[in-house]
Formats: sequence, structure tokens, C-alpha cells
Amino acid sequence: MKTNDFINSLSNNLMQAPLAGYTDVGFRYLCAKYNCGLIVSEMVSAMSLKQKNKVAFDMLGMELPQNTKSKVAVQLFGHDPAVFAEVVKYDEIQQFDAIDINMGCPVPKVTRNGEGSALMLEPKKAGAIIDACVKNSGKPVTVKFRKGYTDNNVNAVEFAKMCQDNGACMITVHGRTKEQMYSDVADWDIIRQVVEAVDIPVYANGDVKTKEDMGAVLSQTGAFGVAIGRGSGGRPWLFAQLAGHEVDVNPFEDIKTHYYLMLKHLPAHVVAGEMKKHIGAYLKGKRGVKPLLNEIFKTKTVDEQLALLTDYFKN
Ligand SMILES: Cc1cc2nc3c(=O)[nH]c(=O)nc-3n(C[C@H](O)[C@H](O)[C@H](O)COP(=O)(O)O)c2cc1C
Repeated sequence: MKTNDFINSLSNNLMQAPLAGYTDVGFRYLCAKYNCGLIVSEMVSAMSLKQKNKVAFDMLGMELPQNTKSKVAVQLFGHDPAVFAEVVKYDEIQQFDAIDINMGCPVPKVTRNGEGSALMLEPKKAGAIIDACVKNSGKPVTVKFRKGYTDNNVNAVEFAKMCQDNGACMITVHGRTKEQMYSDVADWDIIRQVVEAVDIPVYANGDVKTKEDMGAVLSQTGAFGVAIGRGSGGRPWLFAQLAGHEVDVNPFEDIKTHYYLMLKHLPAHVVAGEMKKHIGAYLKGKRGVKPLLNEIFKTKTVDEQLALLTDYFKN
């Protein structure tokens, strides 16, 4: 593996994998608080940015702890190289440390436009998108994709080489096909094959939730790093634990910080809706929280939610 300036600038080899609806501005801050080396935003539509859609711009908030060592990438999805070429120059995109391109999303409303994982079926177009981002952004460009589109079309190795040839400085490989969505277990062997085929650093992704999983995926694949998605939902402190740092976790303080940062960037009614999922994740597995979660799901405002949470955490 050859490293590069971007990879050398990272404080560790942990990545918060992008999660639509979760890796928002508040959650990104908390991942940085817990020293996640690389944090990736939710996917944002390149076309929506070009069309000046406010909701898309609202997703680009930047809040980080002072003196953070974490780097933050913005993840874009789309299908038109010319649109990428334009939007990567926007100030709101340039404030990020890197640009990650989504070539793995399996959701039909994305793939039917030839976006996300559908680009694995069109490697030439995918290459033109990467090239457009590299030439026009002046930023490190990374790509996240899957094992392949279907089991009959496993092309992660060729796709990885294509990304490298078009100037990507790092790739993240999720060991499932588009067809599998999130079912079955991730195939780490295909990640090993990718690692062996390219010079650029590879992040292994899929089913890593613990320190043991992390050790296993790194040793089985030889990957440079590990990208963690669902495993960190509601527990951003996982990154500190994986990096071997002692941390004093106060979930309610983190939850309040999460609300505060969301309210700085998004309308209050949107925050009230978005935070319900996060609260479900933060409280997952805690004994006796079902009635509280039912109450929270009925609320319409942040104030109502915070009152319920204050009551819960005071015990
Ligand atoms: C709710 C949800 C939202 C996701 N959103 C994105 C996204 O915006 N961009 C992306 O590249 N992958 C997205 N993914 C895929 C994850 O980044 C990751 O590849 C997948 O969950 C496997 O990793 P894990 O087992 O660590 O969760 C999403 C997954 C889930 C479950």
C-alpha cells in the first residue's frame, strides 16, 4: 500500500461510515469528540446542491471540537460528472477535508437514476465522476462502493482499480452486493482481494461492532482501516474505545450537545423529528426505556423531548 498526504494526516484508521439520517452535524461533532480519524457526512445529492435546494445545504453544517484531529469528508451522490465538477467548487463543499463519492447506495430511488450502486454497472461513467471531482475540487477524493451489484456481477476488484486509475486516494468497500442490501453477513474476503489488487489504502466495511471484530477484519483483509456504520449509532464513544483511549462517557451531556448543534443548523421541527431516531439509538438496550421511547415518539417539540430525557437521566 502506498500512503498519501491525506491518509498521513489522519489521527487513526477508524472511519465513521456515512449513515443517511444519522451522521448529521451533531453526530459528526460527537465522533470527533471521541477521536474518530475520519468522519463522513450523510450522502448529499450533487444535483440538489446544483439546484440550490435548502435541505441539501442544511446537511453541510460544520461543527468540530477545538483542536480536533479528526477529518471530515462530505459524501456526494449523483450521476452526472458535469454536476459534480461544478458543486465540488462550492464553499460549503470546500470547507470539508475530503470528498467521498457514494457508489454503493442500494436504495431504488437512488439506483433508478443511475446513482449510488448503479454506478458499479457503469464503471466508465463512475470513472468520469471521480476524475471530475479530482480535477475540480483540489481536495482528496475517496469512493465508497460494494462487493458488486448482484452475486452474478461481483466486480469490486476491477472497480477498485478503476477508482485508483481515476485519482481516488482511498476507497471504502462494503462486503455486500447491492442486491443483498444489508442482509446476510458481509464478505470480508472480497475486501482482502481488493486490498491485494490496489496500491491505495482501503477501508473495510460491514458488520464491525467491537474491538474483536475490528481486529478480525483488519487481519483477514489486510485493510488499512475500518469503517463502522450501524455499530456506532447511539454510541459515538465507540471510536475512543476502539482506539484504546480511556473515556468518561456521559450520554446525556452528549445528547444535549447533539440537540444544541442540530438546532444551530436546522429548523426546530426538523430537529425534533430527526432526534427521535438518535434517542432510540442512544437508549437502545437500556432497561425499562420502552415507555419513555413511546412518550418521546409522540412528542412534537424538542422542549418536550428534553423534559422527558431530563426526567429519565436524573434517576
Ligand atoms: C440507515 C443507513 C443509512 C446509510 N446511509 C449511507 C449513506 O448515506 N452513504 C453510504 O455510503 N452508505 C450508507 N449506508 C451504508 C453504511 O455506510 C455501511 O456501508 C453499511 O451499514 C455496512 O456497515 P456496518 O455493518 O458497519 O453498518 C447506510 C446504512 C444504513 C443502515
